[in-house]
Amino acid sequence: MNRISLTQYLVEKQREKGLIPGELRMLLEVVARACKRISYGVGKGALGGMLGEAGSENVQGESQKKLDVIANETLLEANLWGGHLAAMASEEMDHPHAIPNRYPMGEFLLLFDPLDGSSNIDVNVSIGTIFSVLRLPEGVSDPLEEHFLQPGHRQIAAGYAVYGPSTLLVLTVGDGVACFTLERETGSWWLSEDRMQITPETGEFAINASNMRHWQPPVRRYIDELLAGRTGPRGRDYNMRWVASMVADVHRILIRGGIFMYPADAREPDKPGKLRLLYEANPMSFLVEQAGGAATNGRTRILDLQPTSLHERVAVFMGSRTEVERVTGYHQP
Ligand code: AHG
Ligand code: MN
Ligand code: MN
Repeated sequence: MNRISLTQYLVEKQREKGLIPGELRMLLEVVARACKRISYGVGKGALGGMLGEAGSENVQGESQKKLDVIANETLLEANLWGGHLAAMASEEMDHPHAIPNRYPMGEFLLLFDPLDGSSNIDVNVSIGTIFSVLRLPEGVSDPLEEHFLQPGHRQIAAGYAVYGPSTLLVLTVGDGVACFTLERETGSWWLSEDRMQITPETGEFAINASNMRHWQPPVRRYIDELLAGRTGPRGRDYNMRWVASMVADVHRILIRGGIFMYPADAREPDKPGKLRLLYEANPMSFLVEQAGGAATNGRTRILDLQPTSLHERVAVFMGSRTEVERVTGYHQP
């Protein structure tokens, strides 16, 4: 079998298509290596002391699991010294992490959700890592928080790893979406699917329905219509899935279609949703659009939103284009 490794895939993007600079290729290889390390840790579970609480809180007031902290440190350590980065920002850190003076400073900014799906760690359900790459704005030599506040359409790469029955890395550099599977014995990533495409139509939706009583009217209407099934306005039965790890829910949508929703709701009226724009919504929206899907906050394309703070939250509707357009339409006045 003629297998294509992650390195070969990236070298081809660099050399044959001139799509990515060599520095970005090396950065992505380092991120993939860090994900591999996290995957090995995840696999050890209780035997590696990976389960349970860290006993601390992140900037968003969420209690951190041990693995949130370990995954964050793994990504930081792997990326500090390579010379490709100007700074890093993480869901688990209050402020951006500068590159120490003793290392060369590169031109990219790396943002990550080191461990997505924290509530699933201790119950052995799929979890993951999400990352996004931006360019440091031209002429900037001292990267600050404000330099991370770029709309998602400026991302030059994004991806996620899923630590599930197999470990996968799903990646875009703006030329479609590719999926790599980790061969545990050799530590190699092999291309297992290229040019992933999300079906525009779907019979499957993902939302945490326990929040139904807090939803706003457009979301209620949309879900009510789906739940009404064959005899309702949509004229067909719909199936529901909710893993509660965005990586796993979005991965399923890349494979077999569907719509993923985490709307703003009345629980915390001052917060526009639960998911984070820079670490979750932007990278996932980039991937979903590159696979032919759509992603909005109910009104606007997520990739066009101008971020105003590092840990900002956003409502998310993403996946099969026809359904995202429909629920977005329901939000129009
Ligand atoms: P994280 O573990 O990084 O905090 O993210 C969890 C997110 C996302 O992965 C998932 O879709 C959602 O939170 C689940 O939220 P509920 O527990 O409210 O369903
Ligand atoms: Mn997350
Ligand atoms: Mn997380």
